[in-house]
Amino acid sequence: MKPKMILLIATNNRHKIEELRDILIATLGDDVVELKGADAFPDVVPPEETGETFEANAIIKARAYAKATGLLTLADDSGLVVDALDGRPGVQSARYGPNSKARNERVLNEMARVPAEQRTARFVCVAALVDPKGKTQTRTGTVEGKITFSPRGDNGFGYDPIFELVEQPYVGFTTAQLTSNQKNSISHRGRALRAIAPLVSELIK
Ligand code: IMP
Repeated sequence: MKPKMILLIATNNRHKIEELRDILIATLGDDVVELKGADAFPDVVPPEETGETFEANAIIKARAYAKATGLLTLADDSGLVVDALDGRPGVQSARYGPNSKARNERVLNEMARVPAEQRTARFVCVAALVDPKGKTQTRTGTVEGKITFSPRGDNGFGYDPIFELVEQPYVGFTTAQLTSNQKNSISHRGRALRAIAPLVSELIK
């Protein structure tokens, strides 16, 4: 039997690894690829995310781990882009305040005078796949919504309670009001990962 190909997911976030596992298994079957998280390589120092775009940061992460381990590596970078805030929090999404609650309050405060029709926003995720020779491919996923006037919903994480979907079939729900399966089916990350999964399958043929 052909040995399983190893795919390194350059994150310590278990939630992301599990989400990717589900998507890759649905796309590729469960017997062709073995997923490892960054925690399997504690000696690799995570790179600083100094890029000005989601794509740049996803590539920085994937290249650093691919170079250090010689493995096919996937990384993603994501965040919330709010039109009325000139794209903020953007690549600063994880650092827009000391914790999720503070970050959500900051966005709501900055949006206090913005009327409903100008509260458009999107979650964006770029997935980057780097092979051991350094060949780099990226795919982007987005989901469209608008910023609420107050938080709603207990599921999910991060900005989910203040992000109301404008896409079918969940128009009017915040992403914090969806189950994880519902969210994965429409999320920016789900879309980016489903777009990159066939590239993984090409590389491991
Ligand atoms: P990173 O991709 O792990 O760097 O995450 C960036 C930040 O964007 C997270 O810490 C969250 O604040 C935000 N973010 C990314 N994806 C989501 C999501 O699906 N829901 C809510 N917040 C998100």
